[in-house]
Amino acid sequence: MYPIVEKNDLAAKVYRYVIKAPQIVKKARAGQFVILRLHEEGERIPITLADWDAVQGTITLYVQAVGKTTTMMSMMKAGDSLMDVVGPFGVPSHVEPGKTFVAIGGGFGIAAIHPIVRAHKLIGNKTISIIGSRSKDLLLMEDEMRAISDEVRIATDDGSYGTKGFVTTILKSMLEQREPVDVVLAIGPVVMMKAVADLTRPLGVQTLVSLNPIMMDGTGMCGACRVVVGNKMKFACVDGPEFDAHAVDFELLMARQKMYSPQEKISFDIFEKICEAQEHRETAAW
Ligand SMILES: Cc1cc2nc3c(=O)[nH]c(=O)nc-3n(C[C@H](O)[C@H](O)[C@H](O)COP(=O)(O)OP(=O)(O)OC[C@H]3O[C@@H](n4cnc5c(N)ncnc54)[C@H](O)[C@@H]3O)c2cc1C
Ligand code: FES
Repeated sequence: MYPIVEKNDLAAKVYRYVIKAPQIVKKARAGQFVILRLHEEGERIPITLADWDAVQGTITLYVQAVGKTTTMMSMMKAGDSLMDVVGPFGVPSHVEPGKTFVAIGGGFGIAAIHPIVRAHKLIGNKTISIIGSRSKDLLLMEDEMRAISDEVRIATDDGSYGTKGFVTTILKSMLEQREPVDVVLAIGPVVMMKAVADLTRPLGVQTLVSLNPIMMDGTGMCGACRVVVGNKMKFACVDGPEFDAHAVDFELLMARQKMYSPQEKISFDIFEKICEAQEHRETAAW
């Protein structure tokens, strides 16, 4: 069992968990993820390592409640335990010195870029983090990102904080003003990662994205996470999750992500009905 040591409600449907997992901490590297199960019959969900603490033996995860399992997880609290946390999975981020590294994070993607930016900072690279959300109250980890970045630039869709617009609005203006950029990494919704790739491709700026297809075993055996990169089939769990953004088939990725939408909806509706029934029972008992 993997105890939840700390849980914080951060923004609408976004939660931070600190989980005791000392075996994972020993091997954790920037860019990797874990696969967790809440209970014996639960589905396996991949979540990126946002941070880890070698002394406490804990990992930190940021989870957005989007469907049944992540909503169930949002109902758990400090003191509860997860059934399994397996990992770390994935090829660690490639980090080399002498670069100006621009990391772009949207939504939970901010948590995902966090350890990668830190790894670049540690070897002396100039780090610029562009982070964005729909509005100020939904922005994650601003302080943590400031602590490890030479510069943090912020975009909100509604203009409630930072530049009004998308993270790509800031990147576009950096590229137009010829600011030096050696490597761009983007993590967030697929539409955002595709938009970043479309901006940097004509300029030939090296760009990486961390892909989030549906995953199951995380070992390269089941094929669930297959993606096409440079006309070659890859498995995001073992060949990625980071890939050359200019070679990714984003249309296929989006289509595969929606593959089980009807089943996911049914599963969530049944779960909601069970929760409602339980609430009625508890109210009646009072
Ligand atoms: C490498 C990787 C890292 C990720 N890191 C994070 C993270 O740090 N924080 C976070 O909030 N989310 C992360 N995700 C997405 C997270 O795994 C899904 O949101 C979660 O599995 C949804 O499960 P659900 O039962 O709540 O929703 P469902 O109703 O089952 O699905 C909702 C949507 O989530 C996606 N999804 C469903 N099952 C999976 C699955 N097994 N693998 C991947 N995507 C799935 C699909 O696009 C689906 O449409 C990551 C995904 C990958 C592949
Ligand atoms: S999740 Fe099964 S091959 Fe990647």
